[in-house]
Amino acid sequence: MEEERKVEQKQEKDVLMLAIETSCDETAASVVKNGRKVLSNVIFTQIALHTQYGGVVPEIASRKHIEKINQVIEEALDRADVTLADITAVAVTYGPGLVGALLVGVAEAKAISFAAGIPLVGVHHISGHISANYIEHEDLEPPFICLVASGGHSHLVAVKDYGEYEIIGRTRDDAAGEAFDKVARAIGLGYPGGPKIDKISAQGNPDAIPFPRAKVAENEYDFSFSGLKSAVLNYLNACRMKGESFSQADVAASFQKAVVDVLVEHSLHAVREFGYEKFAIAGGVASNSSLRAAFERECEKRKIAFYRPSPLLCTDNAAMIGAAGYYEYRKGVRSGYDLNAVPGLKL
Ligand code: KG4
Ligand code: ZN
Repeated sequence: MEEERKVEQKQEKDVLMLAIETSCDETAASVVKNGRKVLSNVIFTQIALHTQYGGVVPEIASRKHIEKINQVIEEALDRADVTLADITAVAVTYGPGLVGALLVGVAEAKAISFAAGIPLVGVHHISGHISANYIEHEDLEPPFICLVASGGHSHLVAVKDYGEYEIIGRTRDDAAGEAFDKVARAIGLGYPGGPKIDKISAQGNPDAIPFPRAKVAENEYDFSFSGLKSAVLNYLNACRMKGESFSQADVAASFQKAVVDVLVEHSLHAVREFGYEKFAIAGGVASNSSLRAAFERECEKRKIAFYRPSPLLCTDNAAMIGAAGYYEYRKGVRSGYDLNAVPGLKL
């Protein structure tokens, strides 16, 4: 009897979440304890496979997910030194993302939930990105403002409570990561653009070319990056017309500075105007070294507590889904076996 109670208490206390993420080109699985402690974080990246096509090919991504998913999950359980019998619930990204890619993770999670007799928790990919901040910052609790900048999204979000979000600003056109990828292609750096621009910018002059910093008239917290992208393309065309060469490093550094300036200005303006004391960044672009340095500097100046996941937890991974899934689970969220992939899922 005493033994049984102990087991029950342990189960109440520790929630071991198996998390799965397949929304784009990473096949990822992770075991996360109580939303904050990552016991394993396995990521099979398909980048090399898509590089030859200059970007992610959805059909290839889905097929590769199918090929890799079981292996990645087994490895996540092994590295965490647990079996399915130890797992409390399974969390999975069900949107937004590529529909075929999402479906692989969702079908897998349903099968595990059914076979192991454990609850299924559908997780929003962006909620996952934001929740990556909880993993390495034990003291971080809502409310705070988070800038989410990834390949598909650029959002300024007020995190009111765990899993409760209010969007303050969004991009009117391209996402920040998308702009990085497009500019990288235009200057001949290829895919994936973000990390390549980040690296080469270190050798360039960020003030070499005065690219525009766009403001959106109707909402001071919104972003627009298509004008900046066009300005880079125009600059490159002008160089070609004049038969002049251009410096890849200078274009990259000047473009990067224009993006960083806008993201920093809008974000910290929102933190001040809305009266928040904490600010976090998330998403693939949050791994950008110049962006991280700028926020560190500016937040310190303004006495705002600044949080950022380490670079590996900024880009797509399943640990962040385990963190977000835990808080959904705690709120009593349970998905049914009719859970479907929702490519355009809203936050
Ligand atoms: O969050 P993520 O891995 O996937 C999406 O949910 O979209 O973000 C991928 C995006 C890509 O556009 C990639 O170029 C960008 O994040 N990215 C970066 C860096 N690393 C990845 N952008 C700027 N600097 C980086 N170091
Ligand atoms: Zn992502």
